[in-house]
Amino acid sequence: MFVVRNLVVMSGKTRLINGLNLKILKNQTIVIFGPNGSGKSTFLRSILGLSEVRIVGGEIFLDGKALVDEKISKISVSIGYMMQHPPSIQGLSLASVMSESTKHLPTKYEKYVFTPFMKRDVNYNLSGGERKLCELYQLYNRDNLKMLLLDEPDSGVDIENIGIVADLIQRIRDKNPGLISIIVTHNGEILNKIRVEKAYVMIEGEIICAGEAQKIYKTIRENGYSKCLKCKLINDNYGKKK
Ligand SMILES: Nc1ncnc2c1ncn2[C@@H]1O[C@H](COP(=O)(O)OP(=O)(O)OP(=O)(O)O)[C@@H](O)[C@H]1O
Ligand SMILES: [Mg+2]
Repeated sequence: MFVVRNLVVMSGKTRLINGLNLKILKNQTIVIFGPNGSGKSTFLRSILGLSEVRIVGGEIFLDGKALVDEKISKISVSIGYMMQHPPSIQGLSLASVMSESTKHLPTKYEKYVFTPFMKRDVNYNLSGGERKLCELYQLYNRDNLKMLLLDEPDSGVDIENIGIVADLIQRIRDKNPGLISIIVTHNGEILNKIRVEKAYVMIEGEIICAGEAQKIYKTIRENGYSKCLKCKLINDNYGKKK
């Protein structure tokens, strides 16, 4: 189980994460929606301890082990993370960072999608969508993951390749029994292609709404985020603003 209790993250005197609570059971995938700048990426970075910002309060547990103050090197062994803007590494080929793992290539994509990327430097001069596919492909080649954090895996990915994104997410789940997944997205398309247990809405660093993913997405699409603050779909006891 993954549990976050009253997480507070600050940058200077500004609270970026403002008392966030979340619980995700083993084998579950949840989606986080939220307006730009609401703290979604900061939250994912905070789980890994990557953020340049400070965790000043609260607790994060994965399988009963506290993550706050734990070394990043220890946490990242069991957590796969795709950044919103994956960096490129000039001079280091994808093949050289994945040499041990290429046996896991899904053959139906090997020839057309991933093989051409292997000779190229990691993400270097790749298009936005290609970067997302390559990052996901690297996560697919990792073993023994307990948790998967995907920050907008579908942004910039064309409508057909979203099918590959969804397929790779499913393969990662199949390879890692019990995997707990958090997907940050602005896009409802991915909800049609993968099983999602629940969606949450984050506004101003707090989770203020939770419910069935398609319903929440439809409500956001029709009403924008302003109405989320009075959301009738709430079925959990989240947030002060309810
Ligand atoms: N290190 C930092 N120092 C100062 N402000 C920061 C820092 N990191 C993030 N922020 C600010 O915190 C807020 C939340 O940023 P974050 O990247 O988490 O938003 P987000 O919800 O992921 O938005 P988007 O949907 O646009 O990706 C933003 O206003 C951002 O500018
Ligand atoms: Mg973000």
